[in-house]
Amino acid sequence: MNIRTAVPEDAAVLAALARTTFSDTFAANNDPADMVLHLERAYGLPQQAEEIRDPSMTTLLVDQDGTTVAYAQIRSGHIPDCVSGPAPIELWRFYVDREWHGRGIAPALMDRVKAEARARGARTLWLGVWERNDRALAFYAKCGFAAAGEHIFLFGTDPQTDRILTLAL
Ligand SMILES: CC(C)(COP(=O)(O)OP(=O)(O)OC[C@H]1O[C@@H](n2cnc3c(N)ncnc32)[C@H](O)[C@@H]1OP(=O)(O)O)[C@@H](O)C(=O)NCCC(=O)NCCS
Repeated sequence: MNIRTAVPEDAAVLAALARTTFSDTFAANNDPADMVLHLERAYGLPQQAEEIRDPSMTTLLVDQDGTTVAYAQIRSGHIPDCVSGPAPIELWRFYVDREWHGRGIAPALMDRVKAEARARGARTLWLGVWERNDRALAFYAKCGFAAAGEHIFLFGTDPQTDRILTLAL
């Protein structure tokens, strides 16, 4: 497994992986029209190219046997009121291709996320996770994240409740 920082040439690979993993994770429990809307808004070559270039973000990719199988993005910016720890940074996206769930990619990527966040001067890592995403909630609990509050995430036209979790770095 090789974990690396994405470069602009990775935009197409990132866009494809982001669409697949998002759809695999949430399609079964959501309205297909909301899924189409969200995929259009959030995932595409222009969006992912911009994110890779954005200096307020770091995009990490995991390559396994020549294929990119997971990615994570951290970003500075908006901080919810319930996040009270010092120097917070957001773990915005954290996705492993489903074929690789439970096989050690996620813990290794989380270690790298923490190192990148510290290198950016962060001391608190925070994230929002859908209240119905049981596997992710179990994984984040295993990593030591604790509940801090909630916020609303607009999925297509559907306002959903995300739990806000934090971890001291
Ligand atoms: C969340 C994710 C990164 C975790 O990676 P992973 O490789 O699956 O993580 P692990 O297997 O190490 O840990 C998951 C834990 O959830 C448990 N689990 C599995 N399925 C579960 C379920 N349906 N409900 C609750 N817990 C579940 C596992 O048993 C495991 O705990 P254990 O190690 O104590 O047995 C990965 O599942 C993923 O990419 N999911 C889809 C994308 C996603 O939801 N991203 C987060 C968005 S906020």
